Amino acid sequence: MNKLLIAVMMMAGLTACSQEAKQETQETAQAVASEVKNEATSAADATASAAQEAADKVEAAASKAEEAAKPEEAAKPEEKAEAPATEAKPAESAKVDGKAVFEANCKACHGGLIPGAPAVGKKEDWAPRIKQGKDTLHKHALEGFNSMPAKGGNSSLSDDEVKAAVDYMANESGAKF
Ligand code: HEC
Repeated sequence: MNKLLIAVMMMAGLTACSQEAKQETQETAQAVASEVKNEATSAADATASAAQEAADKVEAAASKAEEAAKPEEAAKPEEKAEAPATEAKPAESAKVDGKAVFEANCKACHGGLIPGAPAVGKKEDWAPRIKQGKDTLHKHALEGFNSMPAKGGNSSLSDDEVKAAVDYMANESGAKF
């Protein structure tokens, strides 16, 4: 009877022990699981925040780069656009260099080497032509006159350039245009 009791008590003790052990195991497992979970979450958080940080940095760098690039880009075309405009105006409207136009476009024929073309500086060649008047000479130079080609053959010349060349040629040959 005593032995049986002991046996029963041992059984009960064993059962209790194993149940405890089971519970313990379960608790440990739960604890490990929640720890793993926490760690995984925090790791994920860390990764996410690192990614966010990196993204922020990239964004900041990009906006810096944009800022750095913009003023230069914006400034240059303006400078470029303004410079020729201010340079071109006085050259075009103020004074055309008749002598330069003559030398580049008219001298080949009016330099004294081509017979029939009044030579610049030869007053006897020019006297009868000057008598026709400035406007007629301008007109003949612009539109052509016998073997004198319109604008001396250079249609890219402006009317003002041709007139300035005529004035220069005539004035060099006794006129006071
Ligand atoms: C290809 C040769 C040639 C070139 C280039 C030329 N001329 Fe002449 N030019 C002549 C000849 C030839 C005459 C004479 C025409 C005539 O009297 O029948 C002439 C005549 C003239 C006359 C006098 C017109 C008149 O009514 O008597 C003027 C002004 C003149 N040229 C201006 C110029 C100017 C300005 C240029 C340059 C932009 C020029 N020529 C370039 C050949 C040329």
